[in-house]
Amino acid sequence: MTVRPAVPDDLDAVVASAVGLFAEDAGTRDPLMDVSWPVREGHEYYGSAITDPDVLCLVAVSGDQVIGHLIGRLKRPNPTRPTVVGAELESVRVDPAHRGSGIGAELDAAFVEWARGRGVTEVSVHAFASNTSAIRFYEAHGYVPSSLQLNRDIT
Ligand SMILES: CC(C)(COP(=O)(O)OP(=O)(O)OC[C@H]1O[C@@H](n2cnc3c(N)ncnc32)[C@H](O)[C@@H]1OP(=O)(O)O)[C@@H](O)C(=O)NCCC(=O)NCCS
Repeated sequence: MTVRPAVPDDLDAVVASAVGLFAEDAGTRDPLMDVSWPVREGHEYYGSAITDPDVLCLVAVSGDQVIGHLIGRLKRPNPTRPTVVGAELESVRVDPAHRGSGIGAELDAAFVEWARGRGVTEVSVHAFASNTSAIRFYEAHGYVPSSLQLNRDIT
């Protein structure tokens, strides 16, 4: 297994991994989530991510199979936290058959190395509160819970 930056030829596999992530994560946790978004828009969105210098698009590869992906993105400066240079771990997924063998850890380590190389001082990730296994994964890698978003339906 190797972790490497995605190239344009990986686009279909990155989109497929994102489709899987939406279906498994947001699709089971947020009834308002449009899980068909990556099917419709994924090629354009992730195609741009692969070539954007402010975005890290990684794939985990076994043989010629993509078995995981990670998207990381530099954040815009926030004047209310002027000393922070931030990057967001926007999405990460490992194929179910390959979980629990350190691939997620390798993807996260490569993201942190990329971020440090760009002067980033703080990396962040959003997770559904009910995604306890992903939260356990992040906490094991030094991420600490910060803000809590509360949604209220006012229809
Ligand atoms: C979170 C995820 C990327 C971790 O990848 P991974 O390759 O399984 O991670 P590692 O092997 O490096 O670490 C395993 C740890 O991840 C956590 N984990 C989360 N979901 C897991 C799963 N389904 N199977 C095994 N471990 C899982 C465990 O805490 C485990 O720690 P442990 O070994 O102490 O039990 C992966 O489980 C995944 O794709 N989950 C579904 C998608 C998702 O929720 N993404 C995050 C959205 S915020």
